[in-house]
Amino acid sequence: MNKSKIAIIGLAVMGQNLARNIANNGHKISVYNRTTKVMNEFIDEYGSENLEGYEDLCTLAKSLEKPRIIGLMIKSGPAIDSVIESITQFLEDGDIIVDFGNSNYQDTIKREKKLKEKNLKFFGCGVSGGEEGALNGPSLMPGGDKETYECIEPILKSIAAKDFKGKDCVTYLGQDGSGHYLKMVHNGIEYGIMQMMAEVYGILKNGFGLKAGEISKIFANYNEGKLKSYLCEIAVPILAKKEGEDYLIDKVLDSAAQKGTGRLTAIESLERGVGLSVITQSVYARVYSSFKNTRTELSKLYEKGTHKIEDDLEEFTKILENALYIGVIISYAQGFRLLEVASDEQNWDLNFSEISRIWQGGCIIRAKVLESFETLFVSGEKNLLKMPEVAKYINENIDDLRYVVGLSAMNALPTLSLSSALNSFEYITQERSTANFIQGLRDYFGAHTFKRTDKEGTFHSEW
Ligand SMILES: NC(=O)c1ccc[n+]([C@@H]2O[C@H](COP(=O)([O-])OP(=O)(O)OC[C@H]3O[C@@H](n4cnc5c(N)ncnc54)[C@H](OP(=O)(O)O)[C@@H]3O)[C@@H](O)[C@H]2O)c1
Repeated sequence: MNKSKIAIIGLAVMGQNLARNIANNGHKISVYNRTTKVMNEFIDEYGSENLEGYEDLCTLAKSLEKPRIIGLMIKSGPAIDSVIESITQFLEDGDIIVDFGNSNYQDTIKREKKLKEKNLKFFGCGVSGGEEGALNGPSLMPGGDKETYECIEPILKSIAAKDFKGKDCVTYLGQDGSGHYLKMVHNGIEYGIMQMMAEVYGILKNGFGLKAGEISKIFANYNEGKLKSYLCEIAVPILAKKEGEDYLIDKVLDSAAQKGTGRLTAIESLERGVGLSVITQSVYARVYSSFKNTRTELSKLYEKGTHKIEDDLEEFTKILENALYIGVIISYAQGFRLLEVASDEQNWDLNFSEISRIWQGGCIIRAKVLESFETLFVSGEKNLLKMPEVAKYINENIDDLRYVVGLSAMNALPTLSLSSALNSFEYITQERSTANFIQGLRDYFGAHTFKRTDKEGTFHSEW
């Protein structure tokens, strides 16, 4: 019997689809799931010569070519350690475990070190694209030992999505947890863009009184232009979906869940001292959304009346498009800034042009703008806001973001993330900030000292 090239452990939606993708691309694969019934049902439906199920880890391990490649597609956290613990007894020197889930990069670093002591290789590979991407081509973000990458590269390349030029959306990123780190930041950027889109939806719905179907058409229009992206594309059917006379979206509870990668990105930004206001505010927006009862109670205490924006809708949607586009650029710029600092501190040497390329297909934040980023990052500059092409666009259009945020504020429409994009931009681009005043206050109450603009040294004043 031919041995399998790879195994996948974990057959929830992502594992099933990734396994089918691998088999469909001609690789023989063995699969296993903790709950055997799930594996049997999967094999009943999709089993083939290339796709075989195993009820225990020992026979799963025996079914594999050496070095064995075991892919994990299970719930992140302690479950990963428990599966590693159970499988390692059936593995031999040089065998490879690849974690395809959304693991914390620090756990990945620890696991790699621990398994190295047992002569086993542990590798982290972020997968983006949801269930559809896993099946038809995800964006893959692999990080870890380079030689281990080379063993799994042929499989990864064959299952990955394609970028705008038809190349595989996978590249070797760097050492240890870099793949999972990039996937975390990808998800953070995704949080930011989704929140800003939701704010645009809110302005059109509550400020202009548009119906979901009308807003769907505006997003369809946006998706024809510079905002062309997977998220704008799926906004169209989501907003247009009807149930009888009503739009389904109007009946969806306004409380957004989160699985933790956005929160982790925000925590990382605080720990590494990088301003990540758009992503962080998007996490807060989800937090606020989850307090439905409190919001309902407070909405009665703080009656805001109804607001109606009287602007010309056609003209305003163009302003809104520019505003959202700048918000998107700033969200990416902040995400890349975090990556820059992390890459330096961890010695990953991340290639931003390649990252912009592998995000062009398969993943949730795939967007036309990434084509420009791929080219711009070739210069070696890593800060998007320092690039003359980006500065030209923002200089010409920033008034549109200022207008949208100001108008929304006057009409009691919250723009947590759009206004954060604007305010972080205003702050980071002003030569003289107001932090001198903070320094004065700190020195007054705590003798924290301050530096001066007119002479060298450290000073304290009796204010
Ligand atoms: N869903 C997405 O769109 C998406 C996108 C990208 C990445 N991811 C990541 O991909 C991974 C898989 O996601 P998912 O949504 O398919 O599944 P999930 O709900 O995160 O996890 C369910 C899978 O984990 C297994 N599992 C849980 N605890 C276990 C344990 N202690 N020991 C062994 N197996 C255990 C389950 O087995 P049983 O059937 O026995 O319970 C099941 O196969 C996660 O890390 C997720 O964050 C998900």
